[in-house]
Amino acid sequence: MELDAVAKSYARWAPVYDRTFGAITHAGRRRATGFANRVGGTVLEVGVGTGLALPFYAPHMQVTGIDFSEDMLAKAREKVAEQRLTHVRQLRQMDARDLDFADATFDTVCAMHILSVVPEPEQVMAEMARVCRPGGHVLITNHFAAEGRSAMARIERLFAPLSDLLGWHSDFARARVLGDPRLELVEEDGLPPLGMMTYLRLRRIG
Ligand SMILES: C[S@@+](CC[C@H](N)C(=O)[O-])C[C@H]1O[C@@H](n2cnc3c(N)ncnc32)[C@H](O)[C@@H]1O
Repeated sequence: MELDAVAKSYARWAPVYDRTFGAITHAGRRRATGFANRVGGTVLEVGVGTGLALPFYAPHMQVTGIDFSEDMLAKAREKVAEQRLTHVRQLRQMDARDLDFADATFDTVCAMHILSVVPEPEQVMAEMARVCRPGGHVLITNHFAAEGRSAMARIERLFAPLSDLLGWHSDFARARVLGDPRLELVEEDGLPPLGMMTYLRLRRIG
């Protein structure tokens, strides 16, 4: 998706997101935030959206969130204020392809349900690798295209031309997030609902 399509699509999604797609995808947020909490320290959440994961971080964490959509960020800011989430240090409008942070700033970098949305996911992966400290982790939860000629693969291909309307690419290939030589895949798991989502943990090589 191009950025203007992202902004338009998520302006439509923002008022209903938490009660629709957001409500059925908490398993990935729980998994990623659970790992980040065990590591401790600083976290960058890329494409923080309406901030559904923000209450899951432990109070000892220091969390920064970025998103391109002002409409989604406004919802995240409401949650921080209403729930007094003092571990959230910053929420900033930013393009994930060009992160305004120094190299090796964060212990953990999370991208949940965003890589099949962004234009140039390979560039987003490169930026996440750059801002993650050596030995730190990049955590991804996403839906990836089913392989081969299964019914699911056919459905995904059917919906693929509707990406600007849906707000994501239904036939997004897993290989597109695994090409950065600074990131080594150390864990992979299927997630509910129905194993449709995948959790990936990648370690930043020193
Ligand atoms: C499906 S939502 C996921 C939100 C959140 N991570 C979650 O799990 O609920 C995708 C988010 O990616 C954001 N996004 C898309 N392209 C982006 C970009 N280039 N830079 C930053 N955020 C972007 C959208 O604005 C939207 O909030």
